Amino acid sequence: MSPAWQRHVSLAVPLRQLCRPACVLRSRVDSGRASDYRDYTVKILVIGSGGREHALVWRLRQSPEVEKIWCAPGNGGIADDAECIPVDIGNVNDLVALAKRLKPDLTVVGPEGPLVSGIRDRFEWHGMRLVGPSQQDARLEGSKIFAKEFMERYGIPTPTLYGAFDSPSEAILALDAVDWPVVVKADGLCAGKGVLVAETHEGAEDFIHWLMEEHALGQGGSRVLLENALKGEELSFIVLTDGRSFLPMAPTRDHKRVFDGDRGFNTGGMGAYTTDCMIPPDLESVILDKIVRPTIAGLSEEGLPYTGFLYFGLMLTADGPMVLEYNCRMGDPETQPLMMRMDFDLAVALDAVASKKLETFEPAWKSGASVCVVMTSGGYPGPYETGKKIEGLAAAKALPGVAVFHAGTKRDGDSIVTSGGRVLGVTAMAASLEQAIRKAYNAVDKIHFAGAHYRTDIGAKGITKSRAAGEAPHE
Ligand code: GLY
Repeated sequence: MSPAWQRHVSLAVPLRQLCRPACVLRSRVDSGRASDYRDYTVKILVIGSGGREHALVWRLRQSPEVEKIWCAPGNGGIADDAECIPVDIGNVNDLVALAKRLKPDLTVVGPEGPLVSGIRDRFEWHGMRLVGPSQQDARLEGSKIFAKEFMERYGIPTPTLYGAFDSPSEAILALDAVDWPVVVKADGLCAGKGVLVAETHEGAEDFIHWLMEEHALGQGGSRVLLENALKGEELSFIVLTDGRSFLPMAPTRDHKRVFDGDRGFNTGGMGAYTTDCMIPPDLESVILDKIVRPTIAGLSEEGLPYTGFLYFGLMLTADGPMVLEYNCRMGDPETQPLMMRMDFDLAVALDAVASKKLETFEPAWKSGASVCVVMTSGGYPGPYETGKKIEGLAAAKALPGVAVFHAGTKRDGDSIVTSGGRVLGVTAMAASLEQAIRKAYNAVDKIHFAGAHYRTDIGAKGITKSRAAGEAPHE
């Protein structure tokens, strides 16, 4: 049988034991089916400014149900697809004020920061509908210690915790009793830089000093965890949930290191892909039964029913899948290939979540594969220059099956220039992974800016794996 995320049947998995009266802020629909949504159109506010938010806007724009999209603050490319409104997303008061002025029917939050700061609770208090978890639920990402303790309470497989520490001296002392390599993890939000797999005592100690004494990553590094390092392959498994049902996205795989062959520093993500044959159905069942259901059910049992996207960062080990981290949002760059494969109306799905009617929603995924290659500024994730003129965007976008999602870009007169570390997510969809990779790199070849860097092996492991499993190469 094909995996759940490939079937064109209802995937929203009812959690019967969780059925409590739905807290519907404003019921606009009687069912989640697209056919029931034809009578009205919605205005949507997307919060964020990266490639993930561009991909969300791009997908929402294809919905016949969507009349208007704002993106706050957006970027140079999102401005082609939505009305961009400058705002400081670090200030929840400003975001509330903006939404009160624009009056969107629905708001979707891309990055974790506003969610961890309680934007959902504030919007709810003002009677505004927002897809995303409450501040309490967003602690799954905002505090790794909270997440670890939660997983221990519900028997969710995760690496062994050696300890959580408020002082660097205690953390360093604890290094004497761990197996090597060891994972040193900041408790709070650190923009993807708060984790080190340390091979040596000296490396771990340096990282602990950097986090806890130099406060290099701010408050997020003031507490640390030590946990055992796992061997295996990482997988990003994301679900959309209304707290009672959930809808699994197609599994994806990120490439976190900056250089080919998974070498160099960790980044926010250098590329991602998704295919029909990413994981076997029996593994998907284990992920759903041992990880996803217990997580959503556990939160509900604690009186914290989770709504929005929930991202499970998994390690597929010889002992089964284990949770390395939760994120309270979609992944970046995982969202970019997912939006290309998505074959259902995202606006309808989000509305169903906000109305707690996801159980009736019927998703579908295009068969084949999609790949996102991230182009970065030279030097990223270290220091880099900005303001470099980007050429060739129109030629790349014109290729069939290609979308160029902007991240660190801005407009400068008639030009688009670089304005961040991750600049573009060049994304392609095709019938096979080989074809999708080829298409994505053909598009990358058309784009030029001074110092541009990208990995040349995004998706390559997926091909090696499918060949090892005996699948014929697609040409
Ligand atoms: N791609 C990793 C993340 O979104 O956190």
